[in-house]
Amino acid sequence: MSDYQSRLSLMEGWYEELVASDEREQLLLQDYEPHRQFLGSLSGSVVDIGGGAGLAARFLRSDVDYVVVDPSELWRSREWIEFGAAFRKSGPEPRFIAADGEALPFPDEQFDAALSFWSLNHVRDPGRCLVEMARVLKPGGYARLVLEDIEPSWPDLLNDGAARVWARVARIKRQTLIRRPLIEAFSSKMRGDWPLHEDHIRIPEPALREWMGDCLTVKRREWIDGSLTFDLVKSGD
Ligand SMILES: C[S@@+](CC[C@H](N)C(=O)[O-])C[C@H]1O[C@@H](n2cnc3c(N)ncnc32)[C@H](O)[C@@H]1O
Repeated sequence: MSDYQSRLSLMEGWYEELVASDEREQLLLQDYEPHRQFLGSLSGSVVDIGGGAGLAARFLRSDVDYVVVDPSELWRSREWIEFGAAFRKSGPEPRFIAADGEALPFPDEQFDAALSFWSLNHVRDPGRCLVEMARVLKPGGYARLVLEDIEPSWPDLLNDGAARVWARVARIKRQTLIRRPLIEAFSSKMRGDWPLHEDHIRIPEPALREWMGDCLTVKRREWIDGSLTFDLVKSGD
């Protein structure tokens, strides 16, 4: 089994357990909640690369043309088809396409927006997926990437440290930026061994920016609930 196939199997096992759990809806809602506003702002056609069961539909306007691209068979299981339909509520019915993000079966400049939520760490070649995402976006089109296991920069760690101290002093609830104890995070940053989940491929931020090239411009970079999130715009409008 290739490294990619074994990462995919691990991920599928995790989602098989999740769909069998009583807490599945609550857990997935927690993940999506910080993206509610962004998803609700989209219109026209939206492609979701590695979009799984098409759960983002719950937060999309009902008139959005929503296309989900994903190679995993898992999403075609009865459990996921039923749960996906219930979770999406009145959101648009997704058009599911079994394909790889590395070779999107669409012509150039077809979509108004693209999503890659917790999926780029699972693919074979994230750079190729990003190039494909840029190709199918219309000029001026938006994309949101939600990435896992990204090593934070030193300023990220210092900001997170300051936010933790302030939250403690002011006794306020703090949004999780980096999901690790601070001392542990500083130590592994210093040692250069930032942890990586077994089912993920590592994405260094400098490589990510290189793959974006001149085609995708970063409009916003933010840590949301432990995941580094980029809002991008396709150049050329
Ligand atoms: C952690 S799941 C996220 C699913 C979905 N975005 C969500 O929020 O529920 C990662 C997804 O990436 C998909 N994936 C794996 N390899 C891929 C590839 N080569 N191209 C596109 N998606 C891929 C997996 O099948 C899986 O659905």
